[in-house]
Amino acid sequence: MTDIASRLEELRESGLYRRLRLIGSPQGPRVTLDGRPVLLLCSNDYLGFADHPRVRAAAAEAAMRWGAGAGASRLISGNMQPHRALEERLAAFKGYEAALLFGSGYLANVGTIAALAGRGEVVFSDELNHASIIDGCRLSRAETFVYRHRDVEHLAWGLREAGERPSLIVSDGLFSMDGDVAPLAELAELARRHGCRLMIDEAHATGALGPGGRGTVAAAGLNGEVDVVVGTLGKALGAYGAYVCASRELTDYLLNAARTFVFSTAPAPPATAASLAALELLESHPHRVARLAENAATLRLGLAAEGLDVGDSRSQIVPVTVGDASRTMELCERMLERGVFAQGIRPPTVPPGSSRLRFTVLATHRAGELERAAKLVGGAARELGIATGDAAAVAA
Ligand SMILES: Cc1ncc(COP(=O)(O)O)c(C=O)c1O
Repeated sequence: MTDIASRLEELRESGLYRRLRLIGSPQGPRVTLDGRPVLLLCSNDYLGFADHPRVRAAAAEAAMRWGAGAGASRLISGNMQPHRALEERLAAFKGYEAALLFGSGYLANVGTIAALAGRGEVVFSDELNHASIIDGCRLSRAETFVYRHRDVEHLAWGLREAGERPSLIVSDGLFSMDGDVAPLAELAELARRHGCRLMIDEAHATGALGPGGRGTVAAAGLNGEVDVVVGTLGKALGAYGAYVCASRELTDYLLNAARTFVFSTAPAPPATAASLAALELLESHPHRVARLAENAATLRLGLAAEGLDVGDSRSQIVPVTVGDASRTMELCERMLERGVFAQGIRPPTVPPGSSRLRFTVLATHRAGELERAAKLVGGAARELGIATGDAAAVAA
């Protein structure tokens, strides 16, 4: 057996082996998965823009006018008009002076953190932050203080201990695997008191939370106090790529210092134009954001009525924690047999012992199908002996 084969075997034995499933249609509430129709409850295309006719047309037109690729890094020969147009629109939408596009949210987080923090400094990171934030902290060579999830007292203690060295506090705005929201006002206050920057990742909040889908920072009225807002174009904005919103000075610095910007090809014009069209739709059709919130509440209430605990979810991301990785995948497969696909999420995406089905709701789901799905999950969980308590009360 090769070393790779034995590593794969270990993954299989611990229930952590992953494989790709094939979607045979565009993203949407109902798709064909490995040849079978299913209700899709794990896509981040929250507002249904990935398959919206205007967004598709914008991508097609951009492909014809600007070509399929950007050809180089933005600093070499890849800076094109669609990039600039989207940056200007994103900055205005988010209420920031400037925006800078990156190839993906992963690249934006890694490059920005590594550019803002360095050796001898301390970065403060919530323990449930996305992997790209964790990797950015590692790459920065700064010391990383990982504070307990949303625990501002623990963070305050760490900041005091760090003395003069705090550099950056970084947190997801809306947590990607739990659907709960960061304590932004307290984070901003601590950042101010300790003279360090605050960076919030709005990957899942943009298009979903806050006024007109402007995210958790805007919802908390903290645009002026959060120095860096990261967002992705691959979720509610329907395509691929990402952005950082900040002061002009800071984006100018990132353009020079963020290695994932400097040394990576610019986003493809069709994807950039598609996101611009999606952003225009978001601004002109804010009711989609309200629809998403209604659908999320329907699913949370339905699951709670089945006695399933959805934690502190206040959003379209609704976890049902099972614990064990193999049992999570059994529940996932059982749901698939009944035509509902919610991917099982296991370590290292979530901490050991907290494997879960992570449901994500779309604005384009129908209330009735979400109610039916919740009943199916409850039934399958009971069959598998997965804890379902009394019908739980949950905030709508
Ligand atoms: C919180 C968070 N940040 C960043 C990313 C990465 O974004 P992208 O998919 O554009 O690389 C994700 C993606 O899942 C995420 O959940």
